[in-house]
Amino acid sequence: MYYSDHLIEEVRTKNDIVDVIGGYLRIAKKGSSYFGLCPFHNEKSPSFSVSLHRQMYYCFGCGAGGNVFTFIMEYENFSFPEAVKLLADKAGVTLPEVEYSEEVRKKENKRMKLLEVNKEAAKYFYYQLRTERGRNAHNYLLNRNLTEETMQNFGLGYANKNNDDLTLYLKNKGYDENLVREAGLASFHEKHGTSDKFWNRVMFPIQDLNHRVIGFGGRVMGEGEPKYLNSPETMVFDKSRNLYGLNFARTSRKNHIILCEGYLDVIALNQAGFTQAAASLGTAFTAGQANLLRRYTEEVILAYDSDAAGEKAILRAITILKECGLTGRVLNLAPYKDPDDFVNNLGSEEFEKRINEAQNSFFYEISVLEKGYSLNDPEQKTRFHREIAKKLCTFSEEVERDNYLEAVCEKYHIGFENLRKLVLSYASQTGLAKPVSRPKSGLTSKLSPDDHAKKAERLLLTWLSEEPALYGQVKKYLAATDFSTELYQKVAKRLFTDIEKGEAEPAALISLFTDEEEQREVASLFNTRLGSLETKAEQEKAFNDIVRTVKKNSYASITASLGSDVQAITQALEGRKLLDELLKMNIKLP
Ligand code: GTP
Ligand code: MN
Repeated sequence: MYYSDHLIEEVRTKNDIVDVIGGYLRIAKKGSSYFGLCPFHNEKSPSFSVSLHRQMYYCFGCGAGGNVFTFIMEYENFSFPEAVKLLADKAGVTLPEVEYSEEVRKKENKRMKLLEVNKEAAKYFYYQLRTERGRNAHNYLLNRNLTEETMQNFGLGYANKNNDDLTLYLKNKGYDENLVREAGLASFHEKHGTSDKFWNRVMFPIQDLNHRVIGFGGRVMGEGEPKYLNSPETMVFDKSRNLYGLNFARTSRKNHIILCEGYLDVIALNQAGFTQAAASLGTAFTAGQANLLRRYTEEVILAYDSDAAGEKAILRAITILKECGLTGRVLNLAPYKDPDDFVNNLGSEEFEKRINEAQNSFFYEISVLEKGYSLNDPEQKTRFHREIAKKLCTFSEEVERDNYLEAVCEKYHIGFENLRKLVLSYASQTGLAKPVSRPKSGLTSKLSPDDHAKKAERLLLTWLSEEPALYGQVKKYLAATDFSTELYQKVAKRLFTDIEKGEAEPAALISLFTDEEEQREVASLFNTRLGSLETKAEQEKAFNDIVRTVKKNSYASITASLGSDVQAITQALEGRKLLDELLKMNIKLP
């Protein structure tokens, strides 16, 4: 399954990225790059760029990016080896059958094994659902109004009443018992030995963006505790970074994604034609998931259960969405409990109406607040208005704030000037949210310290990959170990070695990683742009700022982790000396 770096490079260089992508999308030359509409998110003006010179693509809208392999992986929903295969065939390169190698691939190997065993398990559950033993489960799903086609589409299955037959089945297929346990499909008890984790449940395979099975949710049929049993987190199953149904939702080409709470909500919505639905995986919605969504959409419509718990979850989700730069709207499901319930009773057309009528998240928050006050009482009414004013302070842009101010005054019959004064008085106490400023050095201050450090590192890597000659002036001060994450370090190390050899090629570097997520991140390392820097002096200042920022952060993290480790202290002293020197001198741009 694994090919040598050399072979991968051969396949890559024989497939010109402009040709390959041009075969899928309409792209037009503009300056030194080609531009088109991004296939990975919905947009009206082209921000998807393909560089002939760099053999990479990058979308400035959603951050999708990579080399020719990444494109095929994203577009075709292929794994890395599958993408290599397709492009090798296209270019007439013959691939060897199997080539095992390198310790680096070990981890990848384990991931592949876990995915494989999950896939086998999914097939087994799927098959069981269609046997006599699975009849109850099958009927349960039919009673929930699911069609055969839907069951098939989502790969639904059944874990039967035997204690260990999945484990036995997988062992017969040649999988190690430890692997089955590591995948979370079985557990070990001292007394009873190994037994299957899921027993007499309807099974929902959970798929990643590439439709690979990474875990399972199992529901009892009828009443019972726990209602859902989910796979534990494993090397391939990170609950905070995946969403159920996103493998379909991301290609739905809608300008929003509907976020629900339950697996069955996503399934019922898909059946009703709303493929843009996704749900979190039995845990609360996270920032990691919001960032994932941001690649595909700017707007998230929350369709959570219409009960008190749902309301709380919506308020939390709104905050997370806002922090991640997404717009949220809230869909009203009344009088039904959840989306599944709604479409089964009122159908698609009514649901479509509710999508269109979904309430802006600000007004949703205000309407929840309102419930806490009795507005006939002047005292409480005043307090309600104060809360509104406080909320209005969270808008950083004046125009936006004023628009909301106007709208909320109209809706709640509040005097515009009065409320505006209240807002200003709050603002003078606590300060308004600052607009995202974009200083000329390109390092914005709104980012968290961590993001700030990483942004500087990305800018530096992009810059050096475009002007490798600068590395000579930087290398005295910076090593790959100065970068903050394992991935960045790996990329920096390889880039620096390549530059020394005089063959820096970011597109080649991307193939060091076989995971789509990682490839995307690596691509972003080479596509981070500064705002417009016109003069050479501005550029030089920016470059020096960037190098210093990277070094300073590295120094800070070394000293933070010092302790009494002698080696670390030596390293820190060394670092301090270089940092002082760096702060004093100026790197000249050619
Ligand atoms: P139905 O009640 O069959 O319609 O399923 P649902 O998907 O609508 O479930 P519900 O709204 O009750 O819960 C939403 C989601 O929370 C589920 O899809 C699960 O991911 C998760 N969940 C619900 N109950 C449990 C539980 O008992 N344990 C765990 N770990 N997760 C649960
Ligand atoms: Mn439900």
